[in-house]
Amino acid sequence: MCGIVGYIGRGNAKEVILQGLEKLEYRGYDSAGIAIIDDNEIKVEKKQGKLENLKNHLENMNFDSHIGIGHTRWATHGEPSDVNSHPHFSNDLSIALVHNGIIENYSILKEKLKNSGYIFNSETDTEVIVHLIHSNYKGNLLEAVKTSLKELRGTYALGIIHKDYPNEIICTRKESPLVLGIGQGENFIASDVPALLKYTKEVKFLKDKDIAILKEDSIVIFDENDNLVDRDINTIQWTYEQSTKNGYPHFMLKEIFEQPQSIKETINRRVNNNIIDFSDVLSDDEIKEIDMIHLVACGTAYHAGLQGQYALRDIAKTNSFVEIASEYRYMNPFVNNRTLAIFISQSGETLDTLAALREAKSKGAKTLAITNVVGSTISREADSTIYTMAGPEIAVASTKAYTTQVIMLQLLSIFIGKKKGVVSNNKEQEYLSSLYSISDKIKFTLENTDIFPEMADHLKDKVNGFYIGRGLDYAIAMEGSLKMKEISYIHTEAFPAGELKHGSIALIEKGTPVVVIGLQSNLLEKTISNIKELKARGAYILSVGRESSTELREVSDNFIPVKDIDNIFSGVLSVIPLQLLAYYTSLAKNIDVDKPRNLAKSVTVE
Ligand code: AGP
Repeated sequence: MCGIVGYIGRGNAKEVILQGLEKLEYRGYDSAGIAIIDDNEIKVEKKQGKLENLKNHLENMNFDSHIGIGHTRWATHGEPSDVNSHPHFSNDLSIALVHNGIIENYSILKEKLKNSGYIFNSETDTEVIVHLIHSNYKGNLLEAVKTSLKELRGTYALGIIHKDYPNEIICTRKESPLVLGIGQGENFIASDVPALLKYTKEVKFLKDKDIAILKEDSIVIFDENDNLVDRDINTIQWTYEQSTKNGYPHFMLKEIFEQPQSIKETINRRVNNNIIDFSDVLSDDEIKEIDMIHLVACGTAYHAGLQGQYALRDIAKTNSFVEIASEYRYMNPFVNNRTLAIFISQSGETLDTLAALREAKSKGAKTLAITNVVGSTISREADSTIYTMAGPEIAVASTKAYTTQVIMLQLLSIFIGKKKGVVSNNKEQEYLSSLYSISDKIKFTLENTDIFPEMADHLKDKVNGFYIGRGLDYAIAMEGSLKMKEISYIHTEAFPAGELKHGSIALIEKGTPVVVIGLQSNLLEKTISNIKELKARGAYILSVGRESSTELREVSDNFIPVKDIDNIFSGVLSVIPLQLLAYYTSLAKNIDVDKPRNLAKSVTVE
C-alpha cells in the first residue's frame, strides 16, 4: 500500500530510486513520482498510472543529483492523478516528502494551515504534512519534523528532503513499514527489502516513531523519547535474482513454478534428523496450557488459516478456530492466557492482521506470527515468529506464500499433536514422507500446463462462475475463487458443494462454469451427486481430482488430474491447477497479471 524509496550517496539518485520503485510497484501502481535535489533546488516529477509512465517521462531528463526520494501510490485520499501523486512539496518548493500511511486528522490540520495562508494543490491527506513541517521550520529541519509529528494522528512512513540540506534525508515511521539500507558511501530507505537488494543486504528496521537522519556515510537514529539509539544491523538472506522475473513472463508464473522448491525449503527449515521442531517458538509448557488456537489473517492468508484449522483439528486434535482479521476485533472472541493466537501474513504488514494481533495480545493470548518477511511489523510485535521460506513474493496474487503457510501450519499441527501424545513417532514419519512427496507431485501439474490455455479460453468471456468442494476441498475452492476474481475480474463465488441447492443454484444456467475440487476421497460420492444436480441444470463442470478418480473424470466436462496424496495434505496439490487456471484466464483476457486493477500487495490501511 504505497511504496517509498530514498537515496543518498555518490550514485545517480534518479536511477537508484527508479530501480527501487520498480521493486516496490507491487505496493501500488496508481501513480509514481520522484523528488531530487539538483543544484540546491528541489525538482519534482510525477505521473499518474504505472511506473512505466514516469520512466518514459524522465527518459531524457538528466539530473546531477545524489539525493532523492520516490513513491509509488495506491490511492486512498484523492483519485489517481498527477497532482495527487507523491512527492508532495511546500509552496516555496523548499521541502518535499513521500508518505505511506493515512493521516486521520488531516482535515483539521488542512483548515488550520489554509487559514495561515498555505495553498493546497492536491486532495491528499499527505500534503498537510509537508505544509505542517514548513510552518514549524525555524532553521532546523529535524526540530521542525519532530514538532510536526506530535500534531499528526494516524500512520506514516515518511521520507523528507529540504533544499538547504542537500546532504541528508530525514525519515520516520509509525505503523507503516520502513527499512534503512546500509551501503558503502551511500544509504537508502525503502518500504520493503526487495528495493534494496541490488545495493545492499545490510539493513536496519526502524521501531515505531524512530526518526533517522541519513547522510552518505552515517545514519543517526532517535527514538520516540528523543534518545540517540542504535538499531541492530540485519543481513537479508534473499538474493537480488530472487526479486527478478528470471526469464518468466510474469512474477506470478515464476512464483507458481517456485513452489516445489519453496515447499521443500519450508519443510527443511523445521525438520532436524527427521523430527519436526518448533521448540524455539512453543515450549512444552506452553503447549500444555493451550486450550484453544485462533488462526487470524486476511484474503489468501486466511485461506491458509482454513487449511491450518483442518490440520490442527485432524492431526493435533486441538480446538481451533479461524477468523478474518478485519472482523476478529468485532466478534468478541473468547481470548485468555490459554489461547494461542496465530497471525498469518505474507507481508507481515497487513494492518487488519496487526490490529487483531494487538487485540489478542491485550487479552492475554500467546501470539505467534507466520510470515514471510524478516523484520516486518507483525513479526516484531508477536511473541514469537515462524518464517516461511517462500523468498520474495512480488506478484499481487499470492501463490507460493500461501502454500508455504499451509505447509508450516501442517508441520506445526504434527508438532503439537506429538507433544500432546496424539501423534506417534511412526505417524510423524508417515506424515513427513507425505509432506516431502508434495514437491514432486506438484511438478506433475507444472509439467502439464498445456491443458490450461484452452480451459482459460472457455472461461474468459464468462461473467459469473462457482467453485465448490466439501470439507477441506471447500477451503481450496475459496482460494481458487479468490485467485480467479483477483486477476481475471470474473465474478466467482465459492460454496460448500452441498450448499448451492439451498438457494444459489437458481443462478445456474446453460454454460455457467462450476469448478469442482474433489480430492476428499471420503466425500467424493456426495460431491459427484452435487455435480449431477448442477449438470442437470446446464452447468459446465471443470473439476480437479485425483488421477485415479474415474467417476469424477467421467461426470466432468474438463478434468484436471493431480497425484494421489492423503486427504489432509491434498490442498497444496489441488490449489496449483487453480492458480494456473486463474493465471491463464488473466492472460487470455489481456490483464496485467502481476498488477491487477485496484489492488496493492500489502494492505497497510484498515
Ligand atoms: C492474495 O492473492 C491477495 N493479494 C490478498 O488476499 C492477501 O493474501 C491479503 O491481503 C493478505 O496479505 P498478507 O498475507 O500480506 O497479510
